Formats: sequence, structure tokens, C-alpha cells
Amino acid sequence: MKNVLSCIQPTGDIHLGNYFGAVQNYAKLQKDYNCTYGVVDYHSMTMPYTPVKLRENTWNMIFQLMACGVNKENLFIQSLVPEHTQLAWILGCVCSYGELSRMTQFKDKSDQLATSDKDSFVSAGLFFYPVLQAADILIYHADLVPVGKDQEQHLELSRNIAQRFNHQFGKEYFVHPEALYTETPKILSLADPTKKMSKSLGEKHHINIFGDENTIRKQVKSAVTDTGEQTAGEMSPGVKNLFEILKACEKFDVVQSLQEDFRNGSLKYSNLKESVADALVELVTPIRERYMDIQKNKKENKESIKESSIAIRARAAKTLAEVRELTGLTNLK
Ligand code: AMP
Ligand code: TRP
Repeated sequence: MKNVLSCIQPTGDIHLGNYFGAVQNYAKLQKDYNCTYGVVDYHSMTMPYTPVKLRENTWNMIFQLMACGVNKENLFIQSLVPEHTQLAWILGCVCSYGELSRMTQFKDKSDQLATSDKDSFVSAGLFFYPVLQAADILIYHADLVPVGKDQEQHLELSRNIAQRFNHQFGKEYFVHPEALYTETPKILSLADPTKKMSKSLGEKHHINIFGDENTIRKQVKSAVTDTGEQTAGEMSPGVKNLFEILKACEKFDVVQSLQEDFRNGSLKYSNLKESVADALVELVTPIRERYMDIQKNKKENKESIKESSIAIRARAAKTLAEVRELTGLTNLK
């Protein structure tokens, strides 16, 4: 059975982009693959944060993933598996400074920090982040990594690191991991459909899947549709995005009929928005209910995740011992 690995940062609630780009797939893949999913708290330390919020968000993300159908035994908290950072150091020594300088997410986040008014700075951790991501992936010998399109460059770097490591130490040791995309690898912002949906753009831009029904309906209603720049018969990015969301909700009949309306010029955007809102409410209601139940048994659930992290750590430790052997480090046994 192939190994699947993915991780998500504990930076707040799961939004539609995260869900349709990655998280929905996490749950589905569990049927056919050996899956491991991490909440990467070390990664979240690379941008300004507060300790209380980091711990709270870490558990919250764990519970939200469980509500989205991820099994407890497949879930772990990154910093409970210290082998990730140990491997990251070793991999950092087979990754060039130049490669890391070319990472677009690093450039975007550095720019974001430069324009923020806080007395923040670009940390060395932010620069090194993709190496830690490579360690997350390679330590479990992941064949497939379900992620959104924005992670393509980081995945390519992980493959390059694996290849260089194997070449340098004379053994086909690490697997070359491949990204696994959903049908909707890039959900766009509702308020500005030229950008990808993301938390960092602000409230109007993303739909929190744990938001209440009214908020979701209001957000869909205010989505940008026509910008007036399209020629007749051409679909604007905002409208296309709403259709993508409807497709991701598996409302294929509705999509077909509304697309037919679009083609013959009779599509009412209010109808499209209502269908999208209905589909989303139907999708998120059971997820929200599961989340409430999980919250009720917080204590037990936290214990289970600590146990699964310990079990997953044993696999990471095995890889690290082998890597230490290959790279000339000294092992105790
Ligand atoms: P992040 O919240 O940026 O840590 O992303 C968590 C996961 O969701 C990653 O696999 C991302 O690639 C994916 N993702 C984030 N935003 C989007 C989006 N707008 N569309 C599709 N996938 C996304
Ligand atoms: N960089 C990813 C993001 O911003 C999160 C991440 C960290 C990740 N480690 C990973 C994703 C390993 C896949 C595999 O979304």
C-alpha cells in the first residue's frame, strides 16, 4: 500500500480552499492508502504568533480535521515528533541556499512581513521552512502528498532534496514524493477572484467551513461575479469560481443546468449564488455537528492524539536511525 502524507498549519479555521484543495482528500484517501497527517506547529512559528494562541490553534486544527473525517490514529502533532527537526538539519545540508532563495512562498511571506506595521522581521526559520517540509514528507517515505496547487514548488524541492541525498549517500533511500491534487486545486477568493482564497487576505475573502449558516449565506451572496471586463459569452473568474465550488460539492446536475443557462444567456447570478450557498450549508452542517461532539470529549480526544503521535514517532525514529547510519553520524546502538 502506498504512503500518503500531508500536513497543515494550525493558523485558524479550515476554509473552503483548504477543504476542497486538500482536507477533503485527506479523509477520502484513508480508504486506499496508508495515511499520515500532521498539524505542523513548528511551521507556524515562522510567522509572528503568540504562544497561547499557537497551542489553542493546534488542538483546534486537530479537532477540525477529525470533524472532516480524518481518523485519530492517522493524526499527529509535529512538535511531538522531534525527529522532524532533526532530519530537517541533515536535509538542510543537502539543499542549497540558492534553491531556498527561489521559493515564492518565502518571497510572498517576506513581503507580507515587510509591509506589516508590527516590528516583525524575516526569520531564518521562515527561510528554512521548505526543508522542514521536506523532512515531514521524506521521514514517512511518502509516495503521495495531497496539497493545493500553491505547494507545487515545495514538493519539487522535496524531490530534489531526496534525489540529492540518495546520490550523495549512494543509496536509493528516499522515495521521490509526488503532489496529489483534487479537481479543485485552487479555490479563489470570493471578494477578489484574481487571488487564491486565503486566511491572510482577510474576512471577506474566505469562507470558514465552521462558520454558521447565516454567515456562509451572506458571504456567498456578496461574492464578486461580473467585473464588466468580460466579452459576451465569457465567464468571469468569480463566476467560474462559484461553479468550481458547486462542482466540488458534487452538485453535478445543478452545475449542468446552470451552465446551460449561462450558455443561452439566461443565468441569474442570484440563482447560482443560492445554489452554492445551499450546497455549502448541506456540506458543512454534518461536519459542524461532528465538531461539537468532538469538543464534548476534548480530554479523551487529546489523549488519543498524544498516543497516535507517539506511535507515529516510532516510524519517524526508524527513518532517522537509518539516516544517521547512512550519513556518518554516530548511533548509540
Ligand atoms: P494553508 O492554510 O496555507 O496551510 O494550506 C493548507 C492546505 O490547503 C495546503 O495543502 C494548501 O495547498 C491548501 N490550500 C490553501 N489555500 C488553498 C486554495 N485557495 N485552494 C486550494 N487549496 C488551498
Ligand atoms: N507548507 C504547507 C502549507 O503552507 C504545510 C506543510 C508543512 C506541508 N509540511 C508539509 C504540506 C508536508 C504537505 C506536506 O500549506
